[in-house]
Amino acid sequence: MDLLVLGGTAFLGRAIAEHARERGHAVTCLARGTTPPAEGVDFVVADRDDDDGLAAVADRRWDAVVDVTRQPGQARRAVRDLRTDHWVFVSSANAYRSFDSPDLPESAPLHEPLAGDVMADMEQYGPAKVACEDAFRAAEGTATIVRAGLIGGYGDDSGRSGYYPWRFAHPTGPDVLAPDAPEATCGIVDVADLAEWIVLSAEERMDGAFNACGPSIPLTEILAAARRVAGPGAPPPRAVPAEVLAEAGISGWMGPASLPLWIDDPADRFFGKMDAARAQAAGLRTRSIEETLASALAYEEVRETPRRAGLSDDEEIRLRAALDGAG
Ligand SMILES: NC(=O)c1ccc[n+]([C@@H]2O[C@H](COP(=O)([O-])OP(=O)(O)OC[C@H]3O[C@@H](n4cnc5c(N)ncnc54)[C@H](OP(=O)(O)O)[C@@H]3O)[C@@H](O)[C@H]2O)c1
Repeated sequence: MDLLVLGGTAFLGRAIAEHARERGHAVTCLARGTTPPAEGVDFVVADRDDDDGLAAVADRRWDAVVDVTRQPGQARRAVRDLRTDHWVFVSSANAYRSFDSPDLPESAPLHEPLAGDVMADMEQYGPAKVACEDAFRAAEGTATIVRAGLIGGYGDDSGRSGYYPWRFAHPTGPDVLAPDAPEATCGIVDVADLAEWIVLSAEERMDGAFNACGPSIPLTEILAAARRVAGPGAPPPRAVPAEVLAEAGISGWMGPASLPLWIDDPADRFFGKMDAARAQAAGLRTRSIEETLASALAYEEVRETPRRAGLSDDEEIRLRAALDGAG
């Protein structure tokens, strides 16, 4: 295949480009060049915010085009300017309007599409993804719409999948602080598994929407796996009540001063828990959580950017001291 990846230099897009190249496809990536492309791919430097940003790749017909954008204007211009038999658009679980029940099918209600070309902030992320989906669905040719759940593994710059294995491998005391949330669950799809399936979806021109998420696993089991991955010297986890975390200003899910992977807002407790049977029947395979956490740890050990999730050493030490003082 002659495959064009719009993006293709960051986490998932890069994994797609690398896997496609390993499968023997001719891969071209287009991005602004903030980070270098993978080896062995053709690279076009261009800014898709420019109206003619795709001019350099518009003069030929592609077997498939993969897009990871979140900006509806970029998606609409791709459909307007490029010629291909098949589109793959990486959408998100955030496209769904609500997560008030688990195992959402692909037919569950979506947000209203964003009307404008540019999403102003992350509040508009879901509607923006729906607007992008609409653009690719309306395009000529077939389109795989990939509604991805949380993606983890090597290269996860958000730090969500890497924080716990890294923290167990680099403890600040006799335990690793974690939320006291025995009912909490989380699913992570490994970036390598998702990339492999996305390339397959392009090869086979799969048409329609597919939920692509990892199996839902209790957070306590994820923590146990993270501890095993960190090695025999790793200390045990210590469960911290949600009220204590809230008082200390520590949030769930992601970001600074957080305990990641824990959904602390009950309204969102089924977030990302979608029914992935359709993608599985079409070949999506998901590796074990240990393998994903081990890959995420390998990345944390070499990352050059600041960690963007979890507790800093100081934050964990202060929280433990407060817990011990409270006795
Ligand atoms: N991480 C998760 O857990 C998660 C969950 C669900 C869905 N998703 C979706 O999965 C996808 C992740 O893909 P990713 O990791 O490859 O994406 P990403 O981190 O969003 O990377 C964006 C790519 O597009 C390029 N780009 C950005 N602005 C551009 C512009 N104006 N012109 C040209 N290129 C531009 C970037 O390179 P330059 O900056 O150099 O231009 C980069 O290659 C996204 O669609 C995301 O919404 C993620």
